[in-house]
Amino acid sequence: MNLDFSRITQQEGVYYLTPEDAGFSKHYLAVREKENRILTDADVRKLPFLNRDEWPYRVKSTERFINYIATKKQPQTILTIGCGNGWFSNKIAEVSSENAIIGLDVNREELEQAARVFKKDNLYFIYADIFKIPASFHGKFDSITLNGAIQYFKDFEGLMQLLQSFLTENGEIHIIDSPFYKTNEIAAAKNVRKRIMKILVFQK
Ligand SMILES: C[S@@+](CC[C@H](N)C(=O)[O-])C[C@H]1O[C@@H](n2cnc3c(N)ncnc32)[C@H](O)[C@@H]1O
Repeated sequence: MNLDFSRITQQEGVYYLTPEDAGFSKHYLAVREKENRILTDADVRKLPFLNRDEWPYRVKSTERFINYIATKKQPQTILTIGCGNGWFSNKIAEVSSENAIIGLDVNREELEQAARVFKKDNLYFIYADIFKIPASFHGKFDSITLNGAIQYFKDFEGLMQLLQSFLTENGEIHIIDSPFYKTNEIAAAKNVRKRIMKILVFQK
């Protein structure tokens, strides 16, 4: 792999590239809990083959991406941003042991779950805020994925610009399993989100 984590602090199998923001993990997990989206280790191991919520829809997009990566010349270095519990990073790591997969997130609990459930020599779980990443990420990745994660980032243009600087010469960014709205649909989509957040707050 063209990145060296050997001198980086590691705890519970997770490498810490930027200081932890404990507040984010706490609030994020509180919402996920309300949504009933915190999965047990046993369920995480099964993903995406879980017969509830959106999971049946995600099987196809996962297979499509995995098959695509398998057509690429190895070795590849792949960054999965917002990897959460690590299931998708693990699926990519299974394609070839020659590839190196870095799952990155700012949610310590899920990263620790990822490192506990999925152990592979070519799979690394990193705690880092993507906007505070060290310069060592520049020009390093053949592919970057945001799977079910792009909606967490306010500044789409800024994020894309940053991620492009992390790519190798013919590198690619893949945005997967995320809703995109036409301009005239945005207000309605925001309203739905607001209603969900209200329900979550009132149910506390
Ligand atoms: C909905 S979850 C993604 C779930 C996962 N990719 C999946 O497919 O099941 C979005 C993730 O983005 C992470 N995230 C949000 N802002 C981030 C940032 N600035 N840097 C890194 N990760 C971030 C969150 O912690 C969260 O785990």
